[in-house]
Amino acid sequence: MKIKILSLLTITTLFFASCSGEEKAKEVVNEVTEEVTENVEDAVEEVVEATGDMANLGIGPITSVELDDLDPDLADEGKELYKTNCTACHKFGKRYIGPALSGLLDRRSPEWVMNMMLNPEEMITKDPIAMELLAEYSTQMANQQLTEDDARAILEFIRTKD
Ligand code: HEC
Repeated sequence: MKIKILSLLTITTLFFASCSGEEKAKEVVNEVTEEVTENVEDAVEEVVEATGDMANLGIGPITSVELDDLDPDLADEGKELYKTNCTACHKFGKRYIGPALSGLLDRRSPEWVMNMMLNPEEMITKDPIAMELLAEYSTQMANQQLTEDDARAILEFIRTKD
């Protein structure tokens, strides 16, 4: 009788032990699945955000910019224009009055960048990216009254900094 009870106890204990082991395993699987799903969702969101930003051409006169091989003369011209019109508020390596401009063309389309230079007033009130930047920097980007050619030259200079 004693042996019977003992073995019954052992079986029950084993049963519960294996049960909770299984539950634990399920829990771990669930946790891992949740984490993987979250990571995948984050990654997808990042890609959508990045490609969404690059697809944004901004608001203004520029609807299409073709970027060929770098034109060093145009970039030199842009460098001078950049010095007089932009350095009061921008640096490349770090945030200043406005955002750091390093890596700019990895996150913005060239059309968007030129429209930001040529039409900042409208951009910061209507374009979702520029509106977000304004909220973050709380200073309005100034309109430097550039011509489209000036803005294109500055864009070429910015390409050399990427
Ligand atoms: C008076 C200061 C000021 C001047 C001058 C200025 N900017 Fe800005 N810029 C800003 C601020 C501030 C922002 C962020 C948006 C906002 O708050 O209006 C910005 C945003 C930008 C952005 C968007 C950056 C990003 O991360 O997407 C670009 C590109 C830009 N400026 C380029 C230029 C260029 C090129 C010039 C020169 C022609 C220039 N800016 C002149 C203040 C300035």
